Amino acid sequence: MNRISSIALASLLVVSLGAGAQTPGPAATAGSAARGKTTFFRVGCHQCHGGEAQGSPYSTAPKLGPAALPFAAFTLFTRKPRLQMPPYSPEILSDAELADIYAYVTSRAAPVALDKLPN
Ligand code: HEC
Repeated sequence: MNRISSIALASLLVVSLGAGAQTPGPAATAGSAARGKTTFFRVGCHQCHGGEAQGSPYSTAPKLGPAALPFAAFTLFTRKPRLQMPPYSPEILSDAELADIYAYVTSRAAPVALDKLPN
């Protein structure tokens, strides 16, 4: 990737992060969490991010939900990851399937607060 498109990508990410903080985009609510779970396992996201999208202690794959990136940034990242993650093109994973995955990861249970854990 050349320097200009890296900069363009970075600004897109910043813009979408800012916009997503206020209102979720229409695509963000269009997905089905049930279908998303199936796809999440079929295309292998769970292998690095964990079955509950909780992140992995064994790799650098972060937690993906329930407080996820805004949908636009989530999509951008999955299409063009930065470091170790493999890219998922629309041929492998359609926008609709990605919206389902987003619905799945954002519907995961929030982690239990530390002070609520049994001693
Ligand atoms: C081979 C391991 C691997 C697989 C498979 C994988 N990821 Fe990742 N993912 C990573 C790693 C590692 C990162 C941290 C950034 C990097 O290294 O690219 C990451 C980062 C992300 C991020 C950015 C999260 C953040 O808060 O910064 C998103 C979104 C994401 N992955 C979504 C997905 C989705 C959706 C799938 C399946 C379609 C998937 N990943 C499959 C390893 C993986």
